[in-house]
Amino acid sequence: PPGTRLDGDGTLLIGGCPVTELAERYGTPALLVDEGALRARARTYADGLAARWPNSRVVFASKAFPCTAVYRLMAEEGLGADVAGGGELALALAAGTDPAALVVHGNARTTGELRAAVEAGAGLIVVDGFDDIDRLERILADDRCVPAGGEQGVLVRVTPDIRPATHAAVSTGQADSKFGLLPAPAKEAIARLRGSDRLRLDGVHVHIGSQILDTEPFRRAVEAVAALGDFAVYDLGGGLGARYSYDDHPPSVAAYLDALIGAARGVLPAAARILIEPGRSMVAEAGVSLYRAVTVKRGAGATFVAIDGGMGDNLEVSLYRQRFEATVATRVGGGETCRLVGRHCESGDELVTGVPLRDPRPGDLIAVPATGAYTYALSNNYNGALRPPVVFCRDGRHRAVVRRETYADLLRRDL
Ligand code: LLP
Repeated sequence: PPGTRLDGDGTLLIGGCPVTELAERYGTPALLVDEGALRARARTYADGLAARWPNSRVVFASKAFPCTAVYRLMAEEGLGADVAGGGELALALAAGTDPAALVVHGNARTTGELRAAVEAGAGLIVVDGFDDIDRLERILADDRCVPAGGEQGVLVRVTPDIRPATHAAVSTGQADSKFGLLPAPAKEAIARLRGSDRLRLDGVHVHIGSQILDTEPFRRAVEAVAALGDFAVYDLGGGLGARYSYDDHPPSVAAYLDALIGAARGVLPAAARILIEPGRSMVAEAGVSLYRAVTVKRGAGATFVAIDGGMGDNLEVSLYRQRFEATVATRVGGGETCRLVGRHCESGDELVTGVPLRDPRPGDLIAVPATGAYTYALSNNYNGALRPPVVFCRDGRHRAVVRRETYADLLRRDL
């Protein structure tokens, strides 16, 4: 994967660090992040967008990897952050993200969450429906809650009735989506917000789904927001696919931006500000999950290699049937076709089906590349699994930015 190299013995290096050294220091399972690759990706996005549409900003969809170190890294690279609800808002603020650079999302935010966003000085709150407008108006009617600059900037999320070819669970732009408003009610919301005293309608938002591997749906999304009229801000969401397996061929960031901004030219006002919200394609390929093989079992027609992690630290396979690749990290290369299974009490806990592994043995380190997106975020304690540490690796140096959980953490909330 990007950022990994091999040393002379066939051992994987992440950010220049041998995985053997990382396993010794941090144990397994561990989520290793090639910090240089992540920064390079953030710059590719930021520079690429600015070159094509100067009045623009990349807003990292932080749900893809919401830990303090990643919020900080994105802020250092000049990116804003998209937060979904009060929890991610709190994390972003704790990490020191500039509130003005925050875009606050959610289809079911409570009054408390919306109030927290206004009080924090969040730059933009995305209105997902009429209840949000009612709540915000009530919050702002209270003179003790005055947004920065006297007005709260909002965007209206539109559901354009576009169904990209992706897993149904991550498709959000179709007419029956629970997110946003169809064009006709969106126009109503826009009209209502134009008449509001303390809510300032800055523009519109669209996000049609995730792991999208072709640029055409993005063009159509731009056309859909353009049809709503002229605004100061157009937030075009995220959704570009990442390369998880050898069979995935997502468009490059440049090709994606060419399509998106190509579509914007001519249909969006030249003076408008464009925001984009990449999540998955920003972080996926910078992450590598490192496990240890616990057992190797030759069963009915298959070789099961069972590792010390699984659906506790990576739900992508269970939820979306995402195909990953894997390798023995000290003997990189193909070999016997195996089923790489997790440690959990669930048959669906299989990280990679049909993966060639070279002479796998108990105790081997197993690397699963491209696990930077939505793994940390969706990790859980099923079967008492401890959530793995996150380790940033760069130029041969490494540092833990999230520690491994302990059994004490499992008990921490029990009363
Ligand atoms: N903006 C909004 C409003 C979103 O809801 C999302 C993702 C993004 C941006 C970023 O999309 P991306 O660039 O990552 O495709 N739980 C799933 C992913 C759900 C994505 C939800 N929204 C998973 O684990 O794959």
